[in-house]
Amino acid sequence: MHFIPFKYAKILENYQDLAEKLKKNNIKKVMIIVGKTISSKYNLHKDLMDILNKNGIIFLLYTNFTTTPLIKDIEDAALVYKESKAQALIALGGGSIIDAAKAVGVLVSNEGNIKKYQGIFKVKKKPPFMIAIPTTCGSGSETTFAAVIKDNDLNNFIIVSNKIVPDYCLLEPKMLKCLPDDAFNYSIMDTITHAIESYLNISATRKTKKFALKSLSLIKDNLNNAHSTKDDFVAYKALLEASYLAGRSFSRAMVGNIHSLTHGICSYYNLPHGMVNAIILPEMLKEYLKSNYCINKINKISKALNLQTLPDKIHNGLNVVDYILLLNGKFDIPLVLKELKEEDFDKISDHAYQEAHLFYCTPLIFDISDYKEILYLIKSNNN
Ligand SMILES: [Fe+2]
Repeated sequence: MHFIPFKYAKILENYQDLAEKLKKNNIKKVMIIVGKTISSKYNLHKDLMDILNKNGIIFLLYTNFTTTPLIKDIEDAALVYKESKAQALIALGGGSIIDAAKAVGVLVSNEGNIKKYQGIFKVKKKPPFMIAIPTTCGSGSETTFAAVIKDNDLNNFIIVSNKIVPDYCLLEPKMLKCLPDDAFNYSIMDTITHAIESYLNISATRKTKKFALKSLSLIKDNLNNAHSTKDDFVAYKALLEASYLAGRSFSRAMVGNIHSLTHGICSYYNLPHGMVNAIILPEMLKEYLKSNYCINKINKISKALNLQTLPDKIHNGLNVVDYILLLNGKFDIPLVLKELKEEDFDKISDHAYQEAHLFYCTPLIFDISDYKEILYLIKSNNN
């Protein structure tokens, strides 16, 4: 991980900067992919269209994607792109819309079915020039090298490739104003989990650790303001930056045992990803606080969150756990997942085990029984 050159999306200053970058790359026509709800209900793409018009850049607005685009939606969009002779993609939306746009780009430049590119580093030709404008502060998709896509049977599959990282992203605080409260809360908890897991992983580098800790301190310093008012654009911008930095951190250092379990749970139950992460996070941290390696690292997390109250590292680590529980309470995230059925624990634990052991350098190596123990804790938390 230390030696693979990882691409990341560069941050654009503003809409005019976006137009300048298109012109500099000799791009005269773009396809804008905007989620259906965002375009019909909130009109969040208006400023983007205005600036493109002002700069004489032709655009084609594609608003056919619902919140979870399927393979056939992606194929349709790729066909429209090719027929329109567009030269670049702009994705404006949450993580699933940006991921779908990445997949559209793959199909535009590469032959065959999108499933052919499932897995790691299978994409051969670089997709068209792409700019991402996130409308949530959780996925980090605007800078990650992964796209999670649903096939036509609603099963997830993942494309991982340096080539699909957007070239640029625009972190526009106005986008968060329309985000419903629960989506906002789950996004933040997802970002916190990305930052903490990537920081704790053995695969973390000096740079990713710096990004992860900066992400956490930005959240701690700005969340209250962003939460209490719908107009604090400075706080919104900071939260978008936190999500982006956590995205850069986990793009290289990856996520870990929490995401492995969450992916397992969400493949059997239709539950929000960020919410499930938030419920597992405190239990996993308590487990990690039994290891010296993690105690030292969680102590550094407590410093970034300004939660160091004593020289005692375990005490400071427990302060991090309490902070997560406090946020969960504030966000109406339950302590337990009542939906979990014990008869599914074997399958979920097996999924988590396979994912973590194949892809992540977690700080503690779990076996199947360890995952099951966490599942029992989050099913009926007696702590
Ligand atoms: Fe996540």
